Amino acid sequence: MNQKTKTPWPTKAVMEQIYDLHFWGGTDFDFYSGAGSHDPNIITPYLDAAISFLKSFNTSLTVCDLGCGDFNIGQHLAPHCHKYFAIDIVEKLIERNKTLFTKPNLEFLCLDIAKDDLPPADCLILRQVLQHLSNAEILAITKKLANYKYIILTEHIPSGDFIPNKDIISGQGIRIKQNSGVDILKAPFHLKVKEEQHLGEYAFKNNKGRIVTKLYETI
Ligand SMILES: C[S@@+](CC[C@H](N)C(=O)[O-])C[C@H]1O[C@@H](n2cnc3c(N)ncnc32)[C@H](O)[C@@H]1O
Repeated sequence: MNQKTKTPWPTKAVMEQIYDLHFWGGTDFDFYSGAGSHDPNIITPYLDAAISFLKSFNTSLTVCDLGCGDFNIGQHLAPHCHKYFAIDIVEKLIERNKTLFTKPNLEFLCLDIAKDDLPPADCLILRQVLQHLSNAEILAITKKLANYKYIILTEHIPSGDFIPNKDIISGQGIRIKQNSGVDILKAPFHLKVKEEQHLGEYAFKNNKGRIVTKLYETI
């Protein structure tokens, strides 16, 4: 019997292909991280909430943006930070960002956030990244989260009740079709937090889910 076992592509190759073939849309753009990174109805309330959090400190924070994408979001947050590390797995995207966005407090790094060591910071931003990753990768990332005091986490989840953390192969899609979404506090991740705050959400029409942003303070 000719039985083949399916080995998933490495995440780096998957993400490179998504950008090369514009699987997240935006064919007029060189790199496009999806409507969730560009639609003003989605990003304006997010930016208002995130900026107001960053501005609430007397001493501005060092922030690490994991999976920074095309930087349509991060470019508005960086000015409110002491130092801003923007990290993505796609080398060509990081090179492009380095030429487009130059500020003294801004540093772009090409890293695999599941495998590589991450820079120290006060606050992590993880925006619509975990939703695309397998549980094994999310688990590897979760283990690093306790090193950061604040986490601003944004996930696209189903509209109503859902089964948390069904496993997927890392890629373009998310868990919505399986009526699932990432909940970092639930099994198998079990992130331990001191406080959880709802920072906002955007609800899609036609039961296409909602993009929810939470602020966690770790233990
Ligand atoms: C949907 S985009 C979101 C981009 C950005 N956070 C935003 O909200 O506009 C997801 C990004 O995560 C990056 N990514 C996925 N897996 C990664 C990994 N293991 N390490 C670093 N970046 C990763 C992808 O390359 C992509 O740019």
